[in-house]
Amino acid sequence: MLHSSIPPHLLASVRPGFSLPQGFYLDPTVFARDLDLLAAHWTFAGHVSELREPGDWVTIELDPESAIVVRGEDGELRAFANVCRHRGSRVCIAARGRSAFLTCPYHAWSYELDGRLRRAREMPAGFDPADYGLKRLPLREIGGLVFVAFAPDPPALEQGVPALERMLNHFAWPTARIAERRAYTVAANWKLAMENYHECYHCAPAHPEFARLHALARPNNRSLSDEPDVLSGLADFEDWEADRLDREVVRVMRSHLVASCETGSRDGRRLAPPMGEGGRREDGLVVFAEVGPLSAFLAYPDHGVIYRFIPREPLRTEMEVIWLVEGSAEAGRDYDPEALVWLWEVTTIADKTIIERNQAGVRSRAYEPGPFSLMEPGTRQYVDRYVAEFAAHEPATA
Ligand code: FES
Ligand SMILES: [Fe+2]
Repeated sequence: MLHSSIPPHLLASVRPGFSLPQGFYLDPTVFARDLDLLAAHWTFAGHVSELREPGDWVTIELDPESAIVVRGEDGELRAFANVCRHRGSRVCIAARGRSAFLTCPYHAWSYELDGRLRRAREMPAGFDPADYGLKRLPLREIGGLVFVAFAPDPPALEQGVPALERMLNHFAWPTARIAERRAYTVAANWKLAMENYHECYHCAPAHPEFARLHALARPNNRSLSDEPDVLSGLADFEDWEADRLDREVVRVMRSHLVASCETGSRDGRRLAPPMGEGGRREDGLVVFAEVGPLSAFLAYPDHGVIYRFIPREPLRTEMEVIWLVEGSAEAGRDYDPEALVWLWEVTTIADKTIIERNQAGVRSRAYEPGPFSLMEPGTRQYVDRYVAEFAAHEPATA
């Protein structure tokens, strides 16, 4: 029984307003339950530019799960469990590809792009291929971003969709293209990476490059007014309350760059052609968004950044960063790829260092939960929601 092996005192020892007790960051049984909990959520799987043509597919992993997202001959996007219905092999092995059928590499069972089994050799009489299609998973496309859940009945997304769609359409993300993609492995529990992502208390000491450009790094300068932007309809939106576990975490938050900066770049000047209407008229605005517990997005006027966190082991997390540019922009002609990635590369490498130092201290016998500052409300909310879910979650494998 999975949940019986969770130390019984662990939840009882959580102190509101403080970081979590040590076991949450180290215990392999907690990690296994975390993966089960995360599988039920919406996770970013890909950008539509990777999935334009019939037969285009991407895979996304969240151990022990893996999903295939594929564009069908009928133009529809579908998500399937990446588990062969013969004896269970992974079907798609690469991160992305294009093929007319999905063929399992083990014994060559072959599936149509809509998941139906089309061919299985030497099967006995009475075998009906109709019984052995790939298993469907929930999928949602919002403003050019494709999300999947690894379990049926993920939390409701609906309430956040209008704010997200407005933001993503304003910055033309549905027609954007991927310019660069980098992965960073962090030797730390995924929750330390997420806690770090949700506060800017560390920005001034750890990220001089970011802090020089973003008002968010300063106390009491977190966001614009609550008034929606009258022209674009953009407004801040938050939905991640710990008492609404039936609703997915969705957040859209507008913020400023410091005066005279147009975008997130080394000199504050634009790096690439404007992205949509927002790109033409929103100098100095940056919009932060989140969907579910592991996926985050930043829209600058001239580029976008997608952040995907993938827990791999109790003390190993992958952070994948994807940079978007306007759909017709070409490297070398319209932007310099190294200049484009500079800010979030230097910031992510610094985050890796500070998160790993955090993990090192949290492993010590001297560690005890410490109090959040006034500049860590996002982290406190994140932790509160996590604890509420952890307490309520019934592991599927228990
Ligand atoms: S496990 Fe896929 S064909 Fe045998
Ligand atoms: Fe950071």
